[in-house]
Amino acid sequence: MSCKPSAVSCKLYVCICFLTTYSWRLISSKKRVVSGITTSGELHLGNYIGALQQFIALQSEYDGYFFLADLHALATVHDPEKLRKSIRSIANLYLACGLDPEQATFFCQSALPAHAELGWMLNTISTMGELSRMTQYKDKSAGNANDSIQAGLFTYPTLMAADILLYQPKLVPVGDDQKQHIELTRNLAERFNKRFSETFTVPDVLTPKQGARIMGLDDPSKKMSKSASSAANYIALVDSPEAIKKKISKAVTDSGTEIKAGKDRPALTNLLTIFSELEDVSVADLEKRYGGKSYRDFKSDLADVIIATLKPVQKTLEELETDPKYVDDILAKGAEKARPVAAKTLAEAKTAMGLG
Ligand code: TYM
Repeated sequence: MSCKPSAVSCKLYVCICFLTTYSWRLISSKKRVVSGITTSGELHLGNYIGALQQFIALQSEYDGYFFLADLHALATVHDPEKLRKSIRSIANLYLACGLDPEQATFFCQSALPAHAELGWMLNTISTMGELSRMTQYKDKSAGNANDSIQAGLFTYPTLMAADILLYQPKLVPVGDDQKQHIELTRNLAERFNKRFSETFTVPDVLTPKQGARIMGLDDPSKKMSKSASSAANYIALVDSPEAIKKKISKAVTDSGTEIKAGKDRPALTNLLTIFSELEDVSVADLEKRYGGKSYRDFKSDLADVIIATLKPVQKTLEELETDPKYVDDILAKGAEKARPVAAKTLAEAKTAMGLG
């Protein structure tokens, strides 16, 4: 029997080689996006609309690197049990909201020492002036004496810059409150490239057209926040239908009775934005739909839309909570995938600075 390959098998082989090369090119030519969520406190609708929804929408078209910013959480959480619980809960929520670990690289920041290492290197090219101008730092340190403000709160943005620059992304999808940090990241990347050598891609920020800043239900002049003092400020992604109904019915409204958005109507603008984002219907259409109707009718429907959005998320969450190993394995695989990418950039940055 002849062992020579037949003409047909040769053609098949060429065909497979072509397809493998072509599909690899397609994957590797995808633009990269990087983003993270700090593992402190509960995730809320603002995180969902401003960030998670974007991540999920981008994951098939982009080469996504999404992570749990647990080192950042250390700036405010010094209770190990609380931190562990928050890491687990936010990891589960990423997946329950639809992050697909087959498409995106999903990992824990602290699993890759390269983040802290590059963070330190970027500290050395940052100035006290630019870090003290960060709004988030000013808000979080307001009213505290210098002696009691943690240094980690101050250098938080340089670690964030390291998180991003390590992966050389084109885009960083975030909510509005992180824009200033991405601007600083761009400045640091440009400064590094100029002072040493061309090392980092200078990324662009990507914020959703609508819903980049979801406001507090109890005070529409302040953003919805994990660190809000009252749970009436936000809808947590794990809130029960009863809690959601109660929080929405108590949500602050504007004077007057019209269901209309506008600069002078911050509370209704916020509620309409949430409705519009979750039901994928325009604010203008909602204004028409609720013309002549009461706040009560509108709020009752809004609560139903939020409950319907969160129902499948909470169902998946319950399943994930019974299988922590499944999630741990996903994070371990993600870290393995992220490691060589981060290591390559870190090595280049070290050489550029004269370390080796
Ligand atoms: P964090 O954990 O505060 O928020 C996670 C994401 O949710 C967005 N977000 C909001 N969007 C709309 N309305 C709101 N009320 C709202 N509140 C929060 C945030 O803009 C963010 O996109 N420092 C970051 C985490 C981080 C990071 C990074 C992000 C660490 N390294 C590198 C991007 C790239 C933070 O604390 O986000």
